[in-house]
Amino acid sequence: MSVKKQLFDNAAASYDTTFTKSHIGRFQRARVYSYLSQIDFFKRVKSVFEINCGTGADATYFHENGLEVTATDRSTKMIEAAKNKGTTGINFFPLDFSKLAEQEITADALFSNFGGLNCVPGDELKTIASTISNKQQKGDLIIWVIMPRFCFMEGMYFLSRLKFGKLFRRNTAKAVAVNVDGTAVETFYHSPRFVKRVLNDTYKIEKVKPVAFFLPPSYLEGFFKNKWFLLNFLNRLEKIAGRMSFLSGWSDHYIIIGVKK
Ligand SMILES: C[S@@+](CC[C@H](N)C(=O)[O-])C[C@H]1O[C@@H](n2cnc3c(N)ncnc32)[C@H](O)[C@@H]1O
Repeated sequence: MSVKKQLFDNAAASYDTTFTKSHIGRFQRARVYSYLSQIDFFKRVKSVFEINCGTGADATYFHENGLEVTATDRSTKMIEAAKNKGTTGINFFPLDFSKLAEQEITADALFSNFGGLNCVPGDELKTIASTISNKQQKGDLIIWVIMPRFCFMEGMYFLSRLKFGKLFRRNTAKAVAVNVDGTAVETFYHSPRFVKRVLNDTYKIEKVKPVAFFLPPSYLEGFFKNKWFLLNFLNRLEKIAGRMSFLSGWSDHYIIIGVKK
């Protein structure tokens, strides 16, 4: 498995099967949507600019809920897969984070779901935050869903397999090679504390919440095959975990929502 930086093209064809339509992927996405509904997202926002949109699941959801949607991703294959779904009225096009500065952004929310921002190291995350902040107006929203430096359920899994060396695999500022459909993608884990610091100067942080503290990472979908009762139970517990912001740093992902000052 060769290490390639930020390469998701190989994953585009299977991404919906392995994540979007998986039981775990659907449960995790539903948690993100529940936090959006808690902040009255569809009342506050008329338009969304999405970065790292993948195959367009969220873009479609926003569009179906009446928002004007621009959705971008660096992977042309992901954008192709999104367009091939045939939903009209969404402006999909390829865009790398590094080109954000050249991009006009007038939407009143900037959205990044499920770890796209884990494809860049901390210093690049700071640059992305300041680029977006320079383009947003007072009151605009920034919503990022990011993987932190420790995941409780992943830890439990590694413990049960006696893989002690992997327990803290996320806890580094360096790139960690993560297998995405046979390609090792460089992944950088960002703690909620760090991301809050990155956004703090120009955004008022409105919400930081765990996404999948009890729910497992999606690569454990196979493990939960024939254990759907257990997964449903974990999903129920997840809703309770969702009340506890401090679990954000211990979950598979967390959501951070800021309002431009
Ligand atoms: C795990 S997928 C998430 C996709 C989608 N947001 C979702 O919720 O299913 C991460 C996405 O980030 C994109 N990505 C990675 N690095 C990027 C970059 N530098 N610029 C833009 N998109 C990037 C990948 O192409 C991939 O589609």
